[in-house]
Amino acid sequence: MRKQIAAANWKMNLTIDQAKELTAALLAAPLTTDETHQVVLGVPFPYLMSIHEQIKGNENIFVAAQNCYTKKAGAYTGETSVEMLKSIGIQYVILGHSERREYFNETNAMLAEKINICLENELVPIFCCGEPLEIREAATQNEYVEKQLIESLFHLTVDQITGFIIAYEPIWAIGTGKTASNEQAQEIQAYIRQVIAAKYGNTVAETISILYGGSVKATNAKDIFGQPDVDGGLVGGASLIAADFVTIINSLK
Ligand code: PGA
Repeated sequence: MRKQIAAANWKMNLTIDQAKELTAALLAAPLTTDETHQVVLGVPFPYLMSIHEQIKGNENIFVAAQNCYTKKAGAYTGETSVEMLKSIGIQYVILGHSERREYFNETNAMLAEKINICLENELVPIFCCGEPLEIREAATQNEYVEKQLIESLFHLTVDQITGFIIAYEPIWAIGTGKTASNEQAQEIQAYIRQVIAAKYGNTVAETISILYGGSVKATNAKDIFGQPDVDGGLVGGASLIAADFVTIINSLK
């Protein structure tokens, strides 16, 4: 069975005390995690080490960075390399979130480079894709997302893409309280899997975890995650509230 993942994206929120308190509350809760039901916490850079330390001993809970740079090392003031992340034990990196694409001009080509440097260093990327409202209104979301996949992922080998994690996040649903319907999420996520199957074959496509993101809440997680091509979620706002995120984790199918 491919992995079902509840990933938190804390974005630029919380102080260190609040971050530790939230993590402690998650660790104290009864979580139904195992090898195929995992939790990934997308933590701001300054807290990576301390949250990583705090979750130690929990085999199915991981910490992710929310970004990394394309270059190995050097004179890039303010940037963070994958080698740095690896050296402090981080295993996951969220890449290509729509906020990074929009506010920091991240392109599909740049994300291909970031994915490459992550894979070279054995960090697992969580690759975000998804369309803005005007694309959805024009009903061209499939083509839009397909282009994101082709330009950022399709240079990968079969070995590299096997078990890959993709997060489909329609931009119009992020932080808006407006979740995609179960049918909308299923339809496009099945399409994503089909696009991957056409390039890499069915067996490979079946190993890819495709998360849904965009106003996932404690109250709708079970329905969305219940869709056959939705393998969990990437959760912003609701991941900042321990009880809600616990419910979301325990809603994985
Ligand atoms: P949201 O954010 O759950 O607050 O909509 C999701 C995301 O941006 O990953």
